[in-house]
Order: sequence, then C-alpha cells, then structure tokens
Amino acid sequence: MNPTRRPLIAGNWKMHRTVSESVALARAVADTRPVGPRTDIVVAPVFTALTAVAKALEGTRVGLAAQNVYFEDQGAFTGEISAPMLKDAGCAWSLVGHSERRQLFGETDGTVQKKLFALKKHGLAPIACVGETLAEREAGITYDVLRRQLDAMTAGLEMEESIALLTGLVIAYEPVWAIGTGRTAKSSDAQSAHAFLRDRVRDRFGEVADTMRILYGGSVKADNAAELLAQPDVDGVLVGGASLDPAGFARIIQAAG
Ligand code: PGA
Repeated sequence: MNPTRRPLIAGNWKMHRTVSESVALARAVADTRPVGPRTDIVVAPVFTALTAVAKALEGTRVGLAAQNVYFEDQGAFTGEISAPMLKDAGCAWSLVGHSERRQLFGETDGTVQKKLFALKKHGLAPIACVGETLAEREAGITYDVLRRQLDAMTAGLEMEESIALLTGLVIAYEPVWAIGTGRTAKSSDAQSAHAFLRDRVRDRFGEVADTMRILYGGSVKADNAAELLAQPDVDGVLVGGASLDPAGFARIIQAAG
C-alpha cells in the first residue's frame, strides 16, 4: 500500500447466499472492529439481495457493489440490469469485466468499455477486472494481455476523456489461474503486475495513475492478505470465497490497517 491511496477491501459474493443470508453477512461485515480510519469496504451481493443489503448497510462504512451491469439505461434487454437501476437499488459501485463474465458470459474488452461509460454516466464507481489465464501466463504473454485489457478501456477516447474515465476507476488485477483455486500469485508477481498497470497509465495519461487504486484478487485469504497489501502498488484486495466468512473477511479488512 501507499499512504497516498486509501485501501479498498472488496468482497465478491458471486452467486452465493439468499436475501436473508446476504443481509446477515452484510451486518456482520459492518460490525467489523477495529477498521483503519481510511479503509474503504465494499460488498457485492447477488442482484436479488441488493435493496435489502443496501438498507442493512445504511449509516455504516460498508459500500454496496453490483457484480455486473448492462450498458444501456433501459429497453428490450431481457435479463439485464442497468446502471440507473443499480443506483436506484442503493449501489455506489459495480464490478465490470470479471473473468467469470469474460469466460462464461461472453464479456469482451468492448463491452467492458461500454459498461464503464454507463457507470461513469450515472455516477457509479467501477471496479474493472483484468488478468491473464494460465495458458497466457505459460505462453509468457501476461503483460500483453494486461496491456490489451487496460488499453481497451480508453480506446478511441481523447486525452481528457481518458483521464475523466480513469479518475476514480478501480482496477482489480485477478490472474484467472488464481481465482477460486487456492493458488495465490506471489506477492512479488502481484506487485510487478500492479506496477506494470500503473506505469502504463502514467506513461499514457500522467498523474491520474498515482491516484488510481489497483486491487489484487485471486485466492486472497486472512493468511496471505497482509503480505499482498504490503506491496507498494497493491491498494487493496478483491476477495471471492473468503469474503463469505465474516470472521475471515474481518481479518482481511484488519490487515489493511
Ligand atoms: P477468490 O475469487 O477469492 O475466490 O479466488 C476472487 C474473485 O473472483 O474476485
């Protein structure tokens, strides 16, 4: 972590928990003590639980995220949910481009960009996920993949538009081979990937790179969070499986200081 950036600890609950279970989990997260004065906490329940969890989190330090969004505001898009609808449900954040969306549901670099535009237009903060697959890592093209996924977010934009898009954007570096597998990236590898992403943004767009938060995700647990968070370019973590256990998630939050 770097003292100029606020740590962000995000829990991605994926397709787990009923409405009442989600409310109970959210209350447990909100009860976490002590929490560092600058640490931001966000949880991402399933869509059906958003309004109930929003109510449970009112007046707490825990922010609410959706796991996905559609880029149109409304219309004949059966099964989709828009940014203004997420806002109406109480979300301030949304994940975008999670590798499960990319791999299982046809999310592309192009749709990720459209979703970022939609979130920004409605004042929601995106957490945009990038990361290489095992095959890509073994082929030695990790950084090519990260560059492609990152550059696609600002493709076709002017300098000022790019900086506006990147301001407040959170990037989550999640190596696909580390998600849900129990295999975490070495903290030095995570640091290298984060520094690569930040340097790329700095080279192209200047100092916005230094305020941009970059989270690590992929088998983060209470036992490895502190070491990951000690890296200078790791500004927080995006936690899947371990965020479903409130005691373990509390320890991860506390590892941020
Ligand atoms: P995991 O998932 O912590 O269960 O590996 C992380 C994620 O997919 O965001």
